Amino acid sequence: MIVMINHDFFKTYPLDHENHENLCSIIQKTLTCIMISYINGTFIDSTAASIPVNDLGLQRGYGVFDFLRVKGSQPLFLQQHIDRLYRSLEYMRLQLPYSKEELITIIQSMIHQNQLQHSGIRITVTGGASPDGYTPVEPHLIIVQQPIPEPPDNMLTSPYQLVTYSYSRQLPEVKTTDYLMALWLQPWIKKQNAQDVLYHSDGWVSECPRSNFFIITPDNVLVTPDSGMLKGVTRANILSVAREIMQVEERSVNLEEIRTAKEAFISSSTKRIIPVSAIDDMHLNTYSSNSISAQLFEALRMLENKN
Ligand SMILES: Cc1ncc(COP(=O)(O)O)c(C=O)c1O
Repeated sequence: MIVMINHDFFKTYPLDHENHENLCSIIQKTLTCIMISYINGTFIDSTAASIPVNDLGLQRGYGVFDFLRVKGSQPLFLQQHIDRLYRSLEYMRLQLPYSKEELITIIQSMIHQNQLQHSGIRITVTGGASPDGYTPVEPHLIIVQQPIPEPPDNMLTSPYQLVTYSYSRQLPEVKTTDYLMALWLQPWIKKQNAQDVLYHSDGWVSECPRSNFFIITPDNVLVTPDSGMLKGVTRANILSVAREIMQVEERSVNLEEIRTAKEAFISSSTKRIIPVSAIDDMHLNTYSSNSISAQLFEALRMLENKN
């Protein structure tokens, strides 16, 4: 990718230390504008990328996606994300005419073309341009890369406060493009000074809209719900590093049990692990630098480096 800056720029901004920062930020913004995306077989400038208006993702919300973090040129846990995408596709009866290997090659080429330091890749597959606006046809494949902040090296010292809401996503084991409830609840969450919502059904918790939920019991067992939610890639990796150091249980968790938990946290590819200090009126004494959550955060970070 070539970025051209003309002489007038340097007349206005001589390249001293302060302006070096400005230049970097302008280049980053420019790159954002001319990012390369991939739509149905073609790499294309993202500003020119488009899909037909009769796409079933747009018209009926019929689509799946996956999202992964990229560190420099390294896509993190790529195979796990691709495997989950294909599980979502199978469940949704969407037949993508690409093998997993072909998709991986496209993603690696995109990373090479866009040259971003910290980014995320979103692979979306929709029901396609349906002539009757209702029957899925050949899917559309849309892959975009965008800059995202790097998560901090240490676990956040400002834990999240969650509020609970009785809701269960449709086809919860599939990463569908439907985040309707999550977006609709945003003002309500903010009004309660919370950072996110924890879904439950009759007091049995499942997940947050974009992350998985864990507790650590008083006798140091890591517990996370095992049904009614999306099996996150970060969740799988946390369970695998945790099994080396502690007992792990995948089972139902209810709000009453959370009251007695020693620690609670949420996980996702973009956040790694975020400690939770309150759920509705429940207060959890969750954060300390040697908490189990902080140890798992470090183990997860190490796993990323090995990836
Ligand atoms: C519903 C839901 N649960 C959990 C997660 C966390 O998954 P991962 O760890 O693969 O990012 C996500 C991610 O966006 C999600 O949408």
